[in-house]
Formats: sequence, structure tokens, C-alpha cells
Amino acid sequence: MSGHSTLTTETPRRAAEAAFQQCLNPSCAATFAIDEAHFGCPRCGDLIDVVYEWDRLETPRSLKAFEAKWSRPLDPLCFSGVWRFRELLPFAPADRIVTVGEGRTLLQKAEKVGRYVGIDPGGLMLQYEGLNPSGSFKDNGMTAAFTHARMIGARRVACASTGNTSAALSVYCSATDFGFQAIIFVGSGKIAYGKLSQALDHGALTVQIEGDFDDAMRRVREVADRLGIYLMNSVNPFRLEGQKTIMYRVLEAMGWEVPDWIVVPGGNLGNSSAFGKAFIELVHLGLIPRAPRLAVINANGARTLHELYGSREVRWRDGLADSTKVDSYYGELDASGVKASTIASAIEINRPVNFKKCLRALDFCDGVVREVSDQEIMDAKAQVGAGGLGCEPASAASVAGARRLREEGLIAPSDRVVCILTGHQLKDPTATVAYHGADRANFEKVLGSRGVTRAEFANHPVVVPNDLDAIVRAIALHGDAAS
Ligand code: F0G
Repeated sequence: MSGHSTLTTETPRRAAEAAFQQCLNPSCAATFAIDEAHFGCPRCGDLIDVVYEWDRLETPRSLKAFEAKWSRPLDPLCFSGVWRFRELLPFAPADRIVTVGEGRTLLQKAEKVGRYVGIDPGGLMLQYEGLNPSGSFKDNGMTAAFTHARMIGARRVACASTGNTSAALSVYCSATDFGFQAIIFVGSGKIAYGKLSQALDHGALTVQIEGDFDDAMRRVREVADRLGIYLMNSVNPFRLEGQKTIMYRVLEAMGWEVPDWIVVPGGNLGNSSAFGKAFIELVHLGLIPRAPRLAVINANGARTLHELYGSREVRWRDGLADSTKVDSYYGELDASGVKASTIASAIEINRPVNFKKCLRALDFCDGVVREVSDQEIMDAKAQVGAGGLGCEPASAASVAGARRLREEGLIAPSDRVVCILTGHQLKDPTATVAYHGADRANFEKVLGSRGVTRAEFANHPVVVPNDLDAIVRAIALHGDAAS
């Protein structure tokens, strides 16, 4: 390591030359300039990474140096919880950065949820990414990808989405003035209303495809290719650069100490991939002594990672992961016609595009993968809501997964565990109201069809006549239970 200095707010001068893109496949390893747009290697089709020659860059001596940025909240690049770490994602000149004030999120000690998971007091923390401007962690990645899009002069931007990527993309197009036009692809009936309403409200061209996320993903790649549209899904390596900062903020909130576990839901596997890259780089730079362990949690109706990593033992192997096992699993899915199905619609994905990068993260972070049922997800979600800010179903997979790992004894009661709450509670009110509501038919329709049979932690509304005495009686009867 060399080239250290204290932090300044200027973008490192030589950033552009010291950052490039590279194919993840070691037997290809093609490199590309930072101002090119590739959403897969044009030579071999593998994923693309953003790579830095750290020795040529000015990197901080310690993570604590970043705290100096706190004193400059009027500077948008210090205000942003992504760009105040820009020395750790130094691919963009400061005057090209596109920010809407993302990443001002919260790591909360969650005692009630900790008891549910089985962790000693003070040991369980929830990273609330729902506090982002569009209500999910996606903004961390969008700000970085839009910055790259602006650097290369892209105008039309597109994504396939289970809802949050499209919401974030729509916000970045409508809240900025750089001429971006949003085109989003969603599976019809596959996206929660909170998220769909965002895309519509923010003026995105919304293309509803008959099919699910995996179908929409396939199509958006073809369309982007044919029409030369800039792709904003997490196959875009710049998205993952932004999402690394979620981990920087977790460390920051812990006084720059490394937790024992990071637990994250797994859908398209962008987050887990980004977290792994963040830790690989921080360890390489000598800024942290070790990585935390990483647990990636699938819903059991969308369990590709669990199947491939847990059962078929596909591993990173320095970038030479066994793709024939992956292809044969996808062949089986096609032949049987099995589609992803879970109440956690955000992670209702069977063909995670970042699978290989996730393998790298699991390798570096001594990772584990688990799957949880929709029942476990909804119960964990109710616990999160009762204990604080609340989240959407997919996010609660992290808490359900932590509980599972605690029961197995892999997580110890004394461990310090951070669960990532990826999306805001209001993203999917349908699931919440079905769980807590008094309407059994609605419960059956929304949750029963997913194998959820109980609502053990439901906070049912109390139905009373429009009569003062009856209301007072009802409060006397139910008041204590509700407190
Ligand atoms: N949690 C939420 C709330 C999400 O929206 C997503 C992904 C995930 C978890 C999974 O994260 O893909 O990084 O493993 N949502 C994408 C979308 C697919 O289109 O909004 P991942």
C-alpha cells in the first residue's frame, strides 16, 4: 500500500486513469476503460468489475478520517452517505456526480428483535436502508450508476425490476436535470403497489411484461442492447460500487469496529456481491483487520443460491466457478417450468445475475447461505415492525435468517450481528395488512396461498360500533395488550 494522505474533499486527481473495468473471468480478464459501458464482457459474457490501482490513488490512512466530512453538510458530496466515502469508489470526477442526498441511513440497536433472534442485549443491529430517498437501498447504487451514465453522456436508462430498482431509477431521472429518461420493465402483477406507484408518479415509461422478473430481466438486456440504452440493473458494475458504502456506514456506526456477522437477503445478489467487494478492498488497503462473516438469505420459493451453493457446492474457485452445474440447474428449472414464488416479491428471482460475484463474497467472508419460509419472513417482519421502524417482507428475510443461524448455533448469543433492512415498510402494505388485518379471507388470499398459516405476532385492529361507550369498553378490554 502506498499513496496515503489525509482526506480532502477534492476528487483524487488521477482517479480516472487509476480506475478501469475488467472481466471477472480470469481466463479472459479483458480490460476496458472507465468511460465505456458494458453490462457483461463483450468477449466472454462474464460479469464486469470496477478495478482500482490503489497504489496510484490517494486513500485514507484510517477510516476515522472520513468523519471530517461530517462538519461539511452543505457540500452535497459530504452530505451524501455514498459520496462522502468517494475515495473508496474513485471512478468519477466530482463535477460529474449525480446525487439526490442518498445514504443517510441508520444503524439501530434493536433489543426486541435481538430477543426474538436470540442475541444478547446490544448485539443485534438493524441497518435501515429504507430511509433512502426512494425508500430502499437501491439509491446507493443508483447514484453511482447515474454518475457513470452522466460521465459517458447516456440519456435513456432502463432496468427490469421487482419494484425497488425501478422506483430508485425513476427518482434519479425525475429529481435531477441532466436529461435522463426512465424506462422500466416489470413483471405484470409481480410488483408491490408502493413501488409501482413510485415509478408511475415519477413519470417513468413503465412496461409491464407478461411474465416474472426473470423474464423482464432477459428482455431488458435485449432491448438495451438493440436500442443502445444504458442498463441500470446490478449487472452494471457501477451500481455495486455505490452499494459498497452500506458497509462503510455500518462500520462507521460501530465506531469502525467490524461486526461478527452481516446478514442480508439474497435476490439478484447485488448487495452481497458489493459487500464482499467492500471488505476485500478494505482489508487490502489495511483499513480493517478482517472481514465479518456474511450470511445470504434466500426465500425458499426463490432458492437458487441456496441450491447451487448449499446443495450443489458451487464455489468461487478464483473466478473459475463450475458454470456447467449452474447451467444444468437452470435447464432443470426451464424443463420443470418452476417459477420463483414468495411473498417477499423483491427477492422473487430464480436467476440471480450476480451469482458469481456473490460466490466471491461468500469465499472472502467465510459465508453461509440459508433459505427461510414465507411464514418465517412474515413473523420476522412483524417483530421488526413491533420493534421499530419496520420493513418490507424481503428485508425481514435477514432477521428470519439470523434467527435460523442462531438456532443452529452458528451464530453465538454473544455475536454482534447486523441485519440489513433493505426496503421501507410502506413499500408493500398489502402483505402487512393481510398479516395484521381482521379479514381472514384477505389473509388466505395474500398469505395463505404462500403457505403462511399463522399470524402469531399479529396486531389485529379492533372493530367497534360508532358508539362512545362501546369504544371506551373496547379500549379498556384491549388497551393493555396493545401497549
Ligand atoms: N431487498 C429488497 C427490498 C429488494 O428490493 C431487493 C432487490 C433485494 C432485497 C435483493 O437484493 O438483488 O441485491 O440480492 N430488488 C431488485 C429490484 C431485484 O428490482 O428492485 P439483491
